Amino acid sequence: MQTADLFADPAEDRSGDIQSRMQALRIQLHQYAHQYYVQDAPTVPDAEYDRLFQELQSLEQAHPQWLTSDSPTLRVGAKPLEAFAPVRHAVPMLSIRTETDTESSGAQAFDARVRRELELSDADAPVEYVAELKFDGLAMNLRYEGGVLVQAATRGDGETGEDVTQNVRTIGQIPLKLSAPNLPDVLEVRGEVYMRRDDFDALNERQRARIAAGAKGEKTFVNPRNAAAGAVRQLDPGIAAQRPLSFFAYGAGEISPQEAVGVFGSHMELLQTLKKWGFPVAAQVDIAQGATELVAYHQRIGAMRDQLPFDIDGVVYKVNSLALQQRLGFVTREPRWAVAHKYPAQEQLTTVLSIDVQVGRTGKLTPVAKLAPVFVGGVTVTNATLHNEDEARRKDVRVGDTVIVRRAGDVIPEVVSVVLDRRQGEPAAFQMPHSCPVCGSVAVREEGEADYRCSGGLFCSAQRKQAILHFAQRRAVEVEGLGDKLVEQMVDAGIVRTLPDLYRLGLTALAVLDRMADKSAQNLLEALQKSKQTTLPRFLFGLGIRHVGEATAKALAQHFGKLDAIMDASEDHLLAVSDVGPIVAKSIRTFFDQTHNREVVEQLRACGLSWEEGEPADKAPQVLAGKTFVLTGTFPTLSRDQAKDLLEAAGAKVAGSVSKKTSYVVAGTDAGSKLDKARELGVAVLDEAAMLEMLASNQ
Ligand code: IVH
Repeated sequence: MQTADLFADPAEDRSGDIQSRMQALRIQLHQYAHQYYVQDAPTVPDAEYDRLFQELQSLEQAHPQWLTSDSPTLRVGAKPLEAFAPVRHAVPMLSIRTETDTESSGAQAFDARVRRELELSDADAPVEYVAELKFDGLAMNLRYEGGVLVQAATRGDGETGEDVTQNVRTIGQIPLKLSAPNLPDVLEVRGEVYMRRDDFDALNERQRARIAAGAKGEKTFVNPRNAAAGAVRQLDPGIAAQRPLSFFAYGAGEISPQEAVGVFGSHMELLQTLKKWGFPVAAQVDIAQGATELVAYHQRIGAMRDQLPFDIDGVVYKVNSLALQQRLGFVTREPRWAVAHKYPAQEQLTTVLSIDVQVGRTGKLTPVAKLAPVFVGGVTVTNATLHNEDEARRKDVRVGDTVIVRRAGDVIPEVVSVVLDRRQGEPAAFQMPHSCPVCGSVAVREEGEADYRCSGGLFCSAQRKQAILHFAQRRAVEVEGLGDKLVEQMVDAGIVRTLPDLYRLGLTALAVLDRMADKSAQNLLEALQKSKQTTLPRFLFGLGIRHVGEATAKALAQHFGKLDAIMDASEDHLLAVSDVGPIVAKSIRTFFDQTHNREVVEQLRACGLSWEEGEPADKAPQVLAGKTFVLTGTFPTLSRDQAKDLLEAAGAKVAGSVSKKTSYVVAGTDAGSKLDKARELGVAVLDEAAMLEMLASNQ
């Protein structure tokens, strides 16, 4: 098939060849649908599919005489895969109309349609809705007879799905047997099988390791939905069982005897009952009165979308009353009582303008794809990391390629894959340079390592800049106002070569820098002065020793008490620290074995950097050892970092989220969902005063 003309601007179809455009769209959409539904291996983002689908739909509306019976617009999903036995659904599995307008007006349009259909006037009360998340997984029908799971089926084309019972039985969250009184004889629960983001990342990590170890026929997955679909439709249930899947219930299919249906007057009651019967129902389900509350829900969920542990692509609104649902009925395959209201897509297509290689603090060379700007996951993305040589090679991204870019959650944007169909000609494959693009030193990739590193060390200005920024950051010694622009200038002008040089700066030296007024120079000198009084963990972390992050720096400081003790510790001694393994121990030893690194430390001390030194840990009281704290909100006297330091000094662990393992939540003002979670799980809640008392009384 010729694809080049497919993506021409439709407005240029002035030749009048609309019919062939429609034909091309049908072919392309069929191909994409096959890749998505049958092969579980989509090659373009949903947003791209939707765009072409809508183009075909509007052409068919404008030219109904050219609508053909094989048009993908007339079908839901795809024909089931032959490997699984077909299941005819007792009640068809419908799709939902999608409100393509991602702005709040989308919710208003739906409410207006519902009110019109129900012949309500402005004087009538708002319609009551249930607002839910739109999970990005795959729809599943779970059939229970006599309370026992007898069949699980995919949606397929809506009428006939696939029997995937074996695989679905391996999903821990799906009850195999219900044990509630008054269960209907037949109960079909509908919901979404999905994969959590952390499970997805871990799975892909494992897949990459397998591929690296030479396993044949293994692949990584494009996104959690694709991984979930692949697992459910896996022919070997043993493999399916190793793919971590989850489930949320959001509706029902057949329920008989019919009298049992009478139990539910509303969709919300149905969801509550499903929850009581042991099905997972998302905590974010909510009642919304009228359009105003739908809009508020859309905004509220939109703001927390990145923090959810799983992907959603929108929210779903459903008329709550089942009687009203019946009155509203269906249009073709879509109920009039429900609508999906989307968010901006997390995957988009864009093109690769160039592939740059950046040099990090430790000399690591990272290939980065420079992209034509694209709005994805709520931000404009122009760069995406290709991680390292192997990843760049595996993805085979080349300059000029059309690629899928994904940004989900707070994670950094990623090139998911290349759309090979759209590669023009034969662009050269990316080659990792064997010398540093900044200083020209040899770049080496050590045996067993994924990364090339510049061997230039502090001779390399890129490494110097990064090392200085790392040292000056807030979590290290904190030199306020010393950002990347300034460091760049200082290093380029040659006035700062090493860390101690920073503390030797005077007003005259700073005057050579661009845009450096007296006042800002003065401020910088004051900030440098202030940074001299620091703590041992901050200083250690600031040195930028490979593998020594904040937590390790704290553990080292606590264990040894004094910097000299750390600098002279043997690998064996270092291994005795809770956070330190062989790689870290070796890296610390190597760092302090280099004379120039010891000199840097000595010079910094000579410049006046100082911190309190303590006794080795076994003498310090570890009164909160084994306890886990979570901090939330703003405290009256301490900053969060200070509270964290105090707790850690007493041996406690400070975690980011509340779980059953949390010992205490310390809540300040404006505490949010963590406090709710603590109450839900019955975790003890303290205020700052109670926490301080606990620290003091236990001394
Ligand atoms: S209700 C009659 N609720 O969206 C409505 N569907 O086109 C039947 N989906 O693939 C579906 N989250 O799996 C409903 N909270 C939710 C949903 C949801 C995701 C999916 C569903 C199907 C598609 C519907």
